[in-house]
Amino acid sequence: MFDTAENNLAVEPFGTTHSQGAADYPGLDEWRNLDVQQAPQWYDQQLLEDSLNELSNVPPLVFAGEVDVLRERLADAAAGKAFVLQGGDCAETFAGATANKISARIRTILQMAAVLTYGASMPVVKMGRMAGQFAKPRSSNMEVRDGVELPSFRGEIVNGFDFTEESRRHDPRRMVQAYHTSASTLNLIRAFTTGGFADLRTVHSWNKGFMSNPAYARFDELAAEIDRAVRFMEAAGADFNALRTVEFFSAHEALLLEYERALTRIDSRTGLPYITSSHFVWIGERTRQIDGAHVDYLSRIRNPIGVKLGPTTTVDQAMELIDKLDPNREPGRLTFIVRMGANTIREQLPAIMDGVKAEGATPLWITDPMHGNTITAANGYKTRRLEDIMNEVRGFFEVANATGTHPGGLHIELTGDDVAECLGGSVAIDESAFDERYETLVDPRLNHQQSLELAFLVAESLAKDSAK
Ligand code: PEP
Ligand code: CO
Repeated sequence: MFDTAENNLAVEPFGTTHSQGAADYPGLDEWRNLDVQQAPQWYDQQLLEDSLNELSNVPPLVFAGEVDVLRERLADAAAGKAFVLQGGDCAETFAGATANKISARIRTILQMAAVLTYGASMPVVKMGRMAGQFAKPRSSNMEVRDGVELPSFRGEIVNGFDFTEESRRHDPRRMVQAYHTSASTLNLIRAFTTGGFADLRTVHSWNKGFMSNPAYARFDELAAEIDRAVRFMEAAGADFNALRTVEFFSAHEALLLEYERALTRIDSRTGLPYITSSHFVWIGERTRQIDGAHVDYLSRIRNPIGVKLGPTTTVDQAMELIDKLDPNREPGRLTFIVRMGANTIREQLPAIMDGVKAEGATPLWITDPMHGNTITAANGYKTRRLEDIMNEVRGFFEVANATGTHPGGLHIELTGDDVAECLGGSVAIDESAFDERYETLVDPRLNHQQSLELAFLVAESLAKDSAK
């Protein structure tokens, strides 16, 4: 997945007994004195201690050198020289960590990335909401069904989805299971992205398969251009063997601070703490309080980090976040993941982007067009319309272009499977399909075809902007 020379693997990445050092690194436990939003109420303290102790002694899932490579890639994106694609489930599940489902998701992301690379005329930094996206924030602690009240589902790293007392109790052993599931998922990601599966020619032939459906005829011209570009590369003698391997990074919401703390290690090259559960971690819309535990913890670790910015964000809040999370204004350190809603983004975002720019800060800006566009369908399912999603992406590009900011990427909830959870698309999904093919445990995801259609729409929009 990564060039070893660049990673400097000759240096032992986390010392011999990885957990030591992180135990008494100054400030790493300050978050415990602060307000911890969305914290689970674990049912057994001894099990909690045992589980965290186990996690403090397991091998890291990612290496500090890889995390540093990602920071450089994101710095390129912040500087307008790359585009970022983050995609995956709203909530991964343990049962969903199968070879078929994981490969379908990777394949979807690679196919989207190939289209976006052409549209943006720049490298696309590929990241999965994968191999650790197990914890969910909830607006309500309790859920009531038929007069029975039980704790809300908080992602399989905390409790089970089944509506029973036993399943819904907060079980700390689930954190250990989440670690092992992340490890096997990441192992397959590493195999797929280095073993030839990700070869650009293969990805291109998958995209031709997608385009053979007449429903997508409106993208024929763009698809033909991409095909010509690939054939030109081939004719010009491009080294396709070098394109057999792609960099693919992992990302998740750092919601469960106990878990992240237990997987934090001191990098022996730099002596600095890294979260080793994932390359990239972000702070969600519900936990971005400036004096809260999540902002404090992520301010102390070295990974590149993101913060979701919802429609109520002010310029002052954005600047406080920058000052706390990226005081040195280090390129690639901080990504703002904007999720305002299609109806709101054009009003709310300009002042924030302008204000941040006026202060001389240059975070990476990417759009999450999913979380501000969730609606309830007539038959009661939580859903999103592809047209609203695309409308928010367009709004994001418009605002970024008007403020002279690079629209740096996309953050999408998607799956590689043929589910019916979001509405619309050229092969249209409507509510009637939900009873059969609605599988998500939390938020609705674009299915494989809707994801690719979105990539084509975004590529068209980017190509138009760059032709201006
Ligand atoms: C999510 O990404 O699934 C999520 C909960 O997002 P947000 O924090 O933006 O609501
Ligand atoms: Co979600």
